Amino acid sequence: MTTETKLDKPLSELLQGTLKKRLNASLRDVFGLDALRPGQEQVIRSVMDGRDTLAVMPTGAGKSLCYQLPALQLGGLTLVVSPLISLMKDQSDKLRESGIAAVALHSGLSAEEERQAIRDIDSGDSRFLFLTPERLAKADFVEMLNERDKDGKPEVQLIVIDEAHCISQWGHDFRPAFVEMLQSIKALGRPPVLALTATATPAVVADILRELDMKDAQVINTGVYRDNLRFAVEQLTNPREKRTRLLERIAALDGTGVVYCSTVAECNAIHVELVEAGIEAERYNGRMSASERTAAQDAFMENRCRVMVATNAFGMGIDKPDIRFVIHHQMPGSLEAYYQEAGRAGRDGGEAHCILLFELKDKQVQQFFLSGRYPGAETLARCADALRRLARESERKTIHAPVDALHEALPDIGVNKLRTVLLVLQDMRILRRTSKGAVTALSDGVPHDMEEAAQRFTAMAAHDREVLERMIGYAQSGQCRWRILLDYFHAHLDAARLHVSTSSMPDELDGGVCCKCDNCVSPPTVMPSPRELQQPASTPGRAVKTWHPGDAVQVRKYGAGKVELVSGDRVAVSFPDGETRTFIARYVKAARS
Ligand SMILES: Nc1ncnc2c1ncn2[C@@H]1O[C@H](COP(=O)(O)OP(=O)(O)OP(=O)(O)O)[C@@H](O)[C@H]1O
Ligand SMILES: [Mg+2]
Ligand SMILES: [Zn+2]
Repeated sequence: MTTETKLDKPLSELLQGTLKKRLNASLRDVFGLDALRPGQEQVIRSVMDGRDTLAVMPTGAGKSLCYQLPALQLGGLTLVVSPLISLMKDQSDKLRESGIAAVALHSGLSAEEERQAIRDIDSGDSRFLFLTPERLAKADFVEMLNERDKDGKPEVQLIVIDEAHCISQWGHDFRPAFVEMLQSIKALGRPPVLALTATATPAVVADILRELDMKDAQVINTGVYRDNLRFAVEQLTNPREKRTRLLERIAALDGTGVVYCSTVAECNAIHVELVEAGIEAERYNGRMSASERTAAQDAFMENRCRVMVATNAFGMGIDKPDIRFVIHHQMPGSLEAYYQEAGRAGRDGGEAHCILLFELKDKQVQQFFLSGRYPGAETLARCADALRRLARESERKTIHAPVDALHEALPDIGVNKLRTVLLVLQDMRILRRTSKGAVTALSDGVPHDMEEAAQRFTAMAAHDREVLERMIGYAQSGQCRWRILLDYFHAHLDAARLHVSTSSMPDELDGGVCCKCDNCVSPPTVMPSPRELQQPASTPGRAVKTWHPGDAVQVRKYGAGKVELVSGDRVAVSFPDGETRTFIARYVKAARS
């Protein structure tokens, strides 16, 4: 065990003395950087102090350095849990380029590569081990790590959870394996944890702290504001118009950029369209093979193409400094997701554009995603039956690797959903998890109310809908875009009930506006008339009529149409010419009968 670097002197003394010098030397010599950025020093200090730490810092702020620098000083092994293979490969490659031994364990390795990786960990040469939460959740893997300990090899000193918002069911990227790995962290003797994320509303912060059992954590939140990002939204009413605007926008912008789509089909279609228009574009989505994706990513990173057309499978932690624009051709399902994707622009601090091409119809795509997100009563019942059957067939009623076993039995249900189901069935005491990650079926034949169990998702589904409405609210608002984002990330601080020392999130605009977004630069032209302003909306008899899909309506200039969608103060109306157009509700009148 390498204990010589363990800290037992008071922090201040150490920081003032040799440690600070060593950190600075390492910053310069290993990473080639001159100074730490705001927030980094606080996080590093907290980690060096052996405290659990949660850092909420904007995309591109330099969160990786917050674990790399202290890990080199701490000695021992640092585990870095990362949700994406591409991300862990990218980060371990970069460390190796800087001359630091790092290993990434993932499903993309051949058997021989994996054996070599484990030998590297065993030999104590590797200071960093990158892995997925699924891998860390495996009991035999933790056993392997703990075995090393007994052999006198360096122990795990620090566990880093990158993209930690994935642990929260309220986050936009919930990954059940992030919850499953918690028992492994305990089994490893619960070393200090450093959780990193760019997007956490107070509710998500509270979830991270609770799930990771970070009782005396230091929370360092440097806010989300980045003054080099210019946000803008364009309201468009049909797909053709949107594609035309996309091409116009790309032609008018300089540098490289990303175009985000919500679906694989749209990603492919837009890619073809851009290439046909003579734009050097690559594409990236989850349906492509791993080698195709790597080739596309490399081309983009090395500036061999100008535009990357991608689904949200692309981008988490992608560290390309000079992305000059991120255009959302379809909106994502939440402002967290939007901010994280848009925030990949301008990491070098130079001006960058974040543009949303908004069509109200895209709401339906998101609603479709939402409808399949949570398991219903029927899925729960099928899984419970399958588990009982598997348990009966197995020795001592124990099912090893339950997710794999279930997926083989019920291939039509996605792996992520199965993980969620297992968590629910565990809560319902239909199964019990053994210390080794297997499960045993508990009750046989006792009737359970699956409808009631499925109800637990009702609140989450309602939350998802609300979050989607906030995204739409952003798109349709006439307010400063940054103001909306800051307010969103600040909201409900009390509701989060944080019982930890939290450096509160600063409001960098001090309640003001950014002066750079589309709404600040050219305020919306559709303003209420002075008479309307004097007339409170709630005046009886003056209230704006609420529309419902299917209502027959009349709009000046366009004539008669039918309401397709209602969202906030906007109404989408379809017309006999086949077009759907969006209006502010009060400009829409009931059809003359
Ligand atoms: N103190 C610093 N001075 C200069 N550059 C830095 C500093 N710290 C980090 N960087 C650089 O900033 C870039 C972004 O860092 P990093 O990938 O860690 O961001 P991140 O906060 O993890 O973002 P994301 O949320 O997208 O994952 C990297 O190229 C890194 O080298
Ligand atoms: Mg990162
Ligand atoms: Zn603004």
